[in-house]
Amino acid sequence: MKKESKTKPNNLSIKSNMMDKIVSLAKRRGFVYQSSEIYGGLNGCWDYGPLGVELLRNIKEEWWKAMTYREDIEGIEASILMHPRVWEASGHVENFTDPMVDCKQCKARYRLDALFEEISIKKQKDVLRELFPDKYQGQKKDEFFAQEFSKIIESNPSSVLPVINCPNCGNKGTFTDARKFNLMFKTFIGPVEDTSAVVYLRPETAQGIYVNFLNVQSASRQKLPFGIAQIGKAFRNEINTKNFLFRTREFEQMEMQYFVKPTEDVKWFEYWREERWKWFINLGMLDNKLRWHQHEQDKLAHYAKDAYDIEYEFPFGWGEIEGIHNRTDYDLSRHEQFSGKSLQYYDDQTKEKYIPYIIETSAGASRSFMAFLVDAYAEEEAPTAEGTMEMRTVLKFHPKLAPIKAAIFPLVNRDGMPEIAKKIEQELRPFFPVFYDDNGAVGRRYRRQDEIGTPYCITVDSQTLQDQTVTVRDRDSMLQERLAIDKLKSYLLNKIS
Ligand code: GAP
Repeated sequence: MKKESKTKPNNLSIKSNMMDKIVSLAKRRGFVYQSSEIYGGLNGCWDYGPLGVELLRNIKEEWWKAMTYREDIEGIEASILMHPRVWEASGHVENFTDPMVDCKQCKARYRLDALFEEISIKKQKDVLRELFPDKYQGQKKDEFFAQEFSKIIESNPSSVLPVINCPNCGNKGTFTDARKFNLMFKTFIGPVEDTSAVVYLRPETAQGIYVNFLNVQSASRQKLPFGIAQIGKAFRNEINTKNFLFRTREFEQMEMQYFVKPTEDVKWFEYWREERWKWFINLGMLDNKLRWHQHEQDKLAHYAKDAYDIEYEFPFGWGEIEGIHNRTDYDLSRHEQFSGKSLQYYDDQTKEKYIPYIIETSAGASRSFMAFLVDAYAEEEAPTAEGTMEMRTVLKFHPKLAPIKAAIFPLVNRDGMPEIAKKIEQELRPFFPVFYDDNGAVGRRYRRQDEIGTPYCITVDSQTLQDQTVTVRDRDSMLQERLAIDKLKSYLLNKIS
């Protein structure tokens, strides 16, 4: 379904204001709450309310159908806790780190790149000119300074840290040296809390797939190329959580690992890039809100030969929602090496044994949730029942994603209309989520449904009493059509599936 164009914000303050409005709507209408809110909240953790959980499940359901309702992909659900050697083999123990610094004065903790983002361009220029007067005198362009500053922060942070102020307390020269911080959450298995009992909460679902590669392949008798898909929780002890659901400490991933002949990696990489882009578009995202970001060769993850992110334009800027990676034979080779078990695939056509290459599609369910929520949000003018115009807030979710598919209203609470409306509600409820509302003027009821993205509103009115028809109002066009009550179920099922 193609959505109508939306009112687009055109400057930073409008954009951040829009994000505030979305977060507030999400809480007020039961999409997302801060975790443990009554205790002051737990940073980087969020709870999905009654509407949020429906939206999240619908996103995961669409992904599951797109990825596993095909003959070449199997699904699994691996456990969150895995043998600690898995994370040595994967490289997470060694490489899954962020450099960070602490302010000795106020104890604020920063990831180095996040600290850099907090420093104004004027301050960056002053620092560079103070430290390297010969090199930076006379240079004017902001972008040039920003690039130089970022390079120094990455390559030689100790040169700049003593001369910058802590963005939290304002003190200068109070930062510790940068040190590596591993993002995996640790816990203990069994009753003894010593180093031999340490296990990690998985930071990605992918490893549960790699270690099961041959189990799944032999049970399903799949031949290359084939994939294994999984949806599940992942945990990262992010130093800086920010932007609502964008970077959280507990989140869900939807990952698929596609095992291919090493010589066919490029072909399948391109295939999956195209498929994954189409998935977002087919669920209503606008082309111009998505873009590709290719990782530069020198910034690729330790396992990757090529990597592209699908980025969405959030109100706070472009952000990755999914990564498509050519992981080569890195993962299976490493697990073979660390476990001592062969993970070779026997190709019965060529009679060769080899380790397949892996093309990974790795999407965040929670990040996709946020992207779909932001993408659906619009404020626009709409006519009232009296024909004057007013602003309405509307979530233009694709009907497949909308948490509630239809709302049912009796126009007035008399003349048998509530009884008919209740009967319609009961008939539809076994098939999809519906909502009955008999409270307030019908215009107000429409607005309440618009705000949570219900695509269809059904009203029982005086004509219903004569001819057993109702009005069905479309959320986006706001047009109404009359339909026989006994046609409602098939009409709506057709629209939402
Ligand atoms: N297995 C590969 C992998 O995990 P990644 O780029 O680190 O790659 C993949 O993560 C996706 O998981 C991201 O595109 C994002 O959607 C989601 N994701 C990663 N870290 C996240 C976080 N802290 N909070 C929410 N989503 C996150």
